Amino acid sequence: MDSIRIQGGIALQGKVRIQGSKNASLPVLAATLLVREGSLIRNCPRIADVHSMISLLRSLGCSVHWQKTGIFVDSAKVTKGEMPREAVTGMRSSLCLLGALIGRCGEVTMEYPGGCVIGERPIDLHLSALRQMGVEFMEKEGQLRASADALHGACICLPFPSVGATENIILAGVAAEGETVLEGAAREPEIQTLCRYLSCCGACIEGAGSSRIVIRGGRRLQGTKFWVPSDRIVAGTYLLGCIGVGGEIFLEQAPAEEMEAVLLTAEEMGGRVCRSREGIYVQAPERPLPVKLITAPYPGFPTDLQSVVLAAAARGRGCTGIEETIFENRFRIVGELKKMGACIEQTDSSHVKVWGVKALQGARVQARELRGGAALVVAGLMAEGESFVGGCPYIYRGYENICRDFRELGARVTSV
Ligand code: UD1
Repeated sequence: MDSIRIQGGIALQGKVRIQGSKNASLPVLAATLLVREGSLIRNCPRIADVHSMISLLRSLGCSVHWQKTGIFVDSAKVTKGEMPREAVTGMRSSLCLLGALIGRCGEVTMEYPGGCVIGERPIDLHLSALRQMGVEFMEKEGQLRASADALHGACICLPFPSVGATENIILAGVAAEGETVLEGAAREPEIQTLCRYLSCCGACIEGAGSSRIVIRGGRRLQGTKFWVPSDRIVAGTYLLGCIGVGGEIFLEQAPAEEMEAVLLTAEEMGGRVCRSREGIYVQAPERPLPVKLITAPYPGFPTDLQSVVLAAAARGRGCTGIEETIFENRFRIVGELKKMGACIEQTDSSHVKVWGVKALQGARVQARELRGGAALVVAGLMAEGESFVGGCPYIYRGYENICRDFRELGARVTSV
């Protein structure tokens, strides 16, 4: 099931329920390591990255069961922080196990983490923050070894609001003795979700969602039941996809309050958007209008949805300009979109210009990373005739069942 076959050119129509959030589930699952009792984490998506996280937790000694109502994790028996190579190199978010494991075991051995090939993705901010909390790092035979005799609170100032580094500091801070004050924290909704879970377990955290977070560490945590919110990036993929493909759809349980920048962009592109507590309704224009898009940390426009705008703009009117400020190497779909007849110029590693054409033509294209892969599926839906998107395991890392979801919206898509 490596490819997706798409019969394009059909406007989207109908409603689809949005899955639980990948980027919220992963750190919450990592955080269960700090809780020496069972937690039930509900609404986790059934995606490859969640399955990898479950394998990692099991390899560390956690008892993990996927029940009808959610994932039950009991980390009572965890003693040593050694992570198997294969699991770590394939998934960048295994990095948030670093803060959790250091907090739990005082030592960690892991490979340098993997993830999507979108730029260099260094981990210097994680390492320097944890050093300030008493962690020592050694590199041996390509492995990273971390140890802390006494993890302690610290005043940390992040020069860039890294999501992963903020998560690691929170996880280590909850286990550390004393107070951790984090300035320059990431403000993404997933940080708030992580803090909400930890607070439900008894941690003392203030300021989640702002750039200053204060953690009073060292409290004993107890198990809880927790609901992971819907995935704002999956919702945004379908919403902006509809702007490109055409039609009108309802995204059930889409978290409108976390998606303001995305909804404003959809409106600028000519979409009619209605926000409600039940979800988001969007009606597409005949052809998308041109926009100037700049990605930014939350509450700015998310880098994870930049490729879908790029795809949608390929069938737009006029010239759309996109600036990517978070990751280099996030325009890898440009060459693939050109195979479908798109008119795009990449001026440097962070800027592209897209001149909309009336219609894209179906083609064989290749996904090389998660979000770009989903954008290629959107492009296939926009194009006239048949398209094949290869490399779909990348897409399955983040989308529970992108074919089923688009079929619910009337599209003709199958995995082959
Ligand atoms: C998380 C999300 C990812 C999203 C990204 C930005 C998860 C599992 N992934 O990734 O979907 O695209 O946030 O919203 O939640 N950086 C450094 N040094 C570091 C850490 C980061 O230079 O130590 C740089 C990165 O290379 C990148 C930028 O900071 O250019 C943003 O990275 P970060 O916010 O850490 O993203 P992730 O946590 O990896």
